[in-house]
Amino acid sequence: MDISSKNIIDQHHRIHDYLRISLTERCNLRCVYCMPEEGNLLKENSKYMSKAEIIQLANVFVSLGVKKIRLTGGEPLIRKDVAEIIKELSKLPVELAITTNGILIDTYLNTFIESGLRSINVSLDTLKKDKFNTITRRNYFDKVMANIQLLIKNNFHVKINAVIIKGQNDDELIDFIEFTKTQPVHFRFIEFMPFDGNKWNWDKGVSYQDILKLTSEKYGNELKRLEDKKNDTAKSFKIKNYLGTFAVISSVTNPFCDTCNRIRLTADGKIKNCLFSDSETDLLTALRSGENVQQLILDSIWNKKRSRGGMETFDQLSNPLEHGKNRAMVAIGG
Ligand code: GTP
Ligand code: 5AD
Ligand code: SF4
Repeated sequence: MDISSKNIIDQHHRIHDYLRISLTERCNLRCVYCMPEEGNLLKENSKYMSKAEIIQLANVFVSLGVKKIRLTGGEPLIRKDVAEIIKELSKLPVELAITTNGILIDTYLNTFIESGLRSINVSLDTLKKDKFNTITRRNYFDKVMANIQLLIKNNFHVKINAVIIKGQNDDELIDFIEFTKTQPVHFRFIEFMPFDGNKWNWDKGVSYQDILKLTSEKYGNELKRLEDKKNDTAKSFKIKNYLGTFAVISSVTNPFCDTCNRIRLTADGKIKNCLFSDSETDLLTALRSGENVQQLILDSIWNKKRSRGGMETFDQLSNPLEHGKNRAMVAIGG
């Protein structure tokens, strides 16, 4: 590959061309593994990026070789000016995608279609209404399910993200896979990761190996491993003759940092060079005071640690607070 000076690279020779922009720290759900029980303390409005600042910074990233932008949150679709942000970003030469909890998909369906945004990841941890209400502490199950159907009907590329937690939804793994029998979606099982305020404990975790064992026993030769795409976070599978596929995102037991191409821009305009990094670079203040943000971006990524923000071992990951302070997931955006 041509590593020109336009690329954002780090000391481990990884090219960073995928930007995840968090549009807000707010959310219309309260998922237990993501939002701290006491809520997420919000800053005053002026501390967050405006629409114009998001577009301005996105342009800088694109000039440095970014080819894919994913919008995240909190919940990105609760931001009032989200339709205009999507329309503006869709003019850039990037693949545009979004990760959402699905509640407002119908409201913005036409915006997605008009902007050519075809790839939507929906977070959904259960196919049972009562359990959905318990996990999310809100009552939107029917809405989310109807919106997933709406996306399928309109030929979107739909991935469903389920964080798998023992005693919470691990009993539904086979149901999730059976959902892909008739629905052309890509169901992804995510290992539970530690973030500020989410009461993480790996005893509650379900690993890639656990899931592989369960599915091999159930499906035998019908279970097919699919080829990974470059920079994929997921190991993908398909059951013979099922319309959809499924995958495991093994951030805890089998991290995929060697091929990491991701940069995160938080809603308050800070770069996080890794999901687990404890240091941030304040782009927004620099932009507002006319500093050279290009150089800040290049420096931030250059200093990215090889794996999980410097937590190379499972033991270190098990004690993330000894490693340094991270944000709550709702304020990172996944
Ligand atoms: P695709 O572009 O569809 O591959 O999406 P994605 O997996 O990059 O994004 P999504 O927002 O759907 O994230 C799904 C899960 O993967 C979330 O739990 C993320 O926290 C996790 N994830 C995404 N990127 C990274 C990463 O760089 N490192 C780690 N460890 N986990 C990640
Ligand atoms: N561990 C793993 N994934 C998480 N997500 C939120 N919190 C966690 C966690 N603690 C996922 C959500 C969403 C994605 C952006 O991040 O399910 O789909
Ligand atoms: Fe990239 Fe950090 Fe995720 Fe590893 S843990 S894949 S380095 S963001």
